[in-house]
Amino acid sequence: MKKCFISMLALGLALSLGACSDDGENPGSGTSGEETITIGVAMPTQTSERWIADGNAVKEGLEALGYRVDLQFANDDIPTQTQQIDQMITQGEKLLIIASIDGTALTSQLQSAADKGIKVIAYDRLIRNSANVDFYVTFDNYKVGVAQANALLYGLGLTDKAGAKKADAPAGPFNIEIFAGSPDDNNAVFFFDGAMDTLKPYLDAGTLVVKSGQTDFEQVAIMRWSQEGAQKRMEDLLSSTYSGGKDALAGVLSPFDGISRGIITALQPAYGTTMADGLPIVTGQDAEVSSVKLINDGVQSSTIFKDTRKLADQAVTAAKAYLAGAEPTANNTDTYDNGVKVVPSYLLEIDTVYKEDIKPLLIDSGYFTEAEVEAGVTS
Ligand code: BGC
Repeated sequence: MKKCFISMLALGLALSLGACSDDGENPGSGTSGEETITIGVAMPTQTSERWIADGNAVKEGLEALGYRVDLQFANDDIPTQTQQIDQMITQGEKLLIIASIDGTALTSQLQSAADKGIKVIAYDRLIRNSANVDFYVTFDNYKVGVAQANALLYGLGLTDKAGAKKADAPAGPFNIEIFAGSPDDNNAVFFFDGAMDTLKPYLDAGTLVVKSGQTDFEQVAIMRWSQEGAQKRMEDLLSSTYSGGKDALAGVLSPFDGISRGIITALQPAYGTTMADGLPIVTGQDAEVSSVKLINDGVQSSTIFKDTRKLADQAVTAAKAYLAGAEPTANNTDTYDNGVKVVPSYLLEIDTVYKEDIKPLLIDSGYFTEAEVEAGVTS
């Protein structure tokens, strides 16, 4: 780009910037004069910290291998994302890494990609209803749900950290409420199923009671994982079912830190600022720094850490394989049926984070600094 700009000045030609574009049919030249390949990376939103971290980590990893990266965020807006992907294809980008907003909305984009021989890697969220998803990198999403339910049970004193029933467990019954993620995100169903399968024996035994009676996915799902949507649902539940907060509520299963923050905001006026003050146990996911601060401060009970650095690494490794004409290595070839085919996948492991795990898992690994956790923001 710089070289191009200088030559424009030198020649005094009124070249359009487009002629020097980073992303056209003729990708910019590297210093060696070889073609530089551009990879399109489509992320859903910048309102959640995790996707910013994912986007940056994928970009850095690909750039370190010498690829050029077109990283786009879509403000959780489906038309914006489809348009971004259309443009990546038109611009001749050689491979796409996509974390979809609505996993069912990209069929025609993926068909155009396939027609041009562009490989598509689904990033963390499965793209559904298309034969043209080549590979999927994600975490073990069912296990995320199991871990969230276990964190709720542990927080209530019913199990140990490994999920084994405690001999001196309180009899309960404990009132709980259930939240799930966005109905258009395939992961939300995996999280919900893992959690509900784990809670079922306790619900069947009457140790746990969902006082609102709302236990179907459709009743508890929060569109677009919205923090405001979760706060509103929790406020409505308090008025409809808990006498505005006068009745006991022991815990809330939350699938995502943003949803957890909405739930906590709704609960605090009625139950207290921290768990020590009487705030119910609230779970989470993603180890977002603002929620890690809440865990450190005794407000949120736990989160699930999905190391975005490792996921980005897997996406980069898969991209590198495809661009070298090889197949990436899958470690799962039977779980993720997208409605048309089972997509070969690479699943990563997750960790549950309670207050005492913040240092070993998040600070010592360099994910956050101690100061960032204390401030609740990344620097
Ligand atoms: C991801 C979760 C995330 C959620 C909301 C899901 O697809 O797997 O890690 O919490 O989206 O962004």
